[in-house]
Amino acid sequence: MQQGPIGVFDSGYGGLTVLKEVVRQLPDYDYLYLGDNARAPYGTRSFETVYHYTLECVNYLFSQGCSLIILACNTASAKALRSIQQNDLPKMTGNKRVLGVIRPTAEIVGNMTRSKQIGILGTAGTVASGSYPIEIQKYFPQVGVHQEACPMWVPLVENDEYDSPGADYFVKQHLERLLNKSSEIDTIVLGCTHYPLLAGKILKYLSPDIKLLSQGEIVAHSLSDYLNRHPEIEALCSRHGQRHFLTTDSIEVFEKHASRFFGKPVRAEHIDLV
Ligand code: DGL
Repeated sequence: MQQGPIGVFDSGYGGLTVLKEVVRQLPDYDYLYLGDNARAPYGTRSFETVYHYTLECVNYLFSQGCSLIILACNTASAKALRSIQQNDLPKMTGNKRVLGVIRPTAEIVGNMTRSKQIGILGTAGTVASGSYPIEIQKYFPQVGVHQEACPMWVPLVENDEYDSPGADYFVKQHLERLLNKSSEIDTIVLGCTHYPLLAGKILKYLSPDIKLLSQGEIVAHSLSDYLNRHPEIEALCSRHGQRHFLTTDSIEVFEKHASRFFGKPVRAEHIDLV
């Protein structure tokens, strides 16, 4: 039986905020991270484009020996995951799995709210897909879900402007718009893996009664549970504590930015997908 690393994919750097927590909770496994930085951001792209790009990256990670891949990107989870699970994986040989970040978040978020009103902040693509309201309704039909697309937030984070006064303007604008949708929102999900870098600014404009949820811990916990429930997949995941990072863009730029998301220095390799 051929073992390999757990693949972790994002359009760019955001998935590193998830990988950071996954590594903290499950340090023994090997991880192979792929950031499609050359084509990021995905947030404003069409369904077909996000699906096509995500499938290319997933296929690449499979070709590197991964059997289990986490789409650590809400946009890819919203727009590509279901098609990959239903149409592509059944045609592939071997025991291969792809998991997303929306379902694990939806499964627990209803337990966090007292007012039964939740806010979701995400990319335009994630919000337009309706994935959060649909998934949350399955587990918590009595919970109201209010969404706000924040198309400027990923560019602010990717361009290192998340601490700037310009970021304050856009953070405040989208929080106000979200909270205008319901004054009873008491729990807000950062439904984009880039957004934890803006958490400091977001908290500045939020009442302390409102809980702000990032996905890293949620996804790490859900992965641990998944591996316990699926020993046949767990057995395919190698455990030497290794981490490798791949980018479709410049290594220098990736290494410079990635450490802010991952919390420690990162050495990367460049890959071409075609
Ligand atoms: N990090 C991705 C997410 O969680 C989005 C970034 C992008 O727009 O490419 O949705």
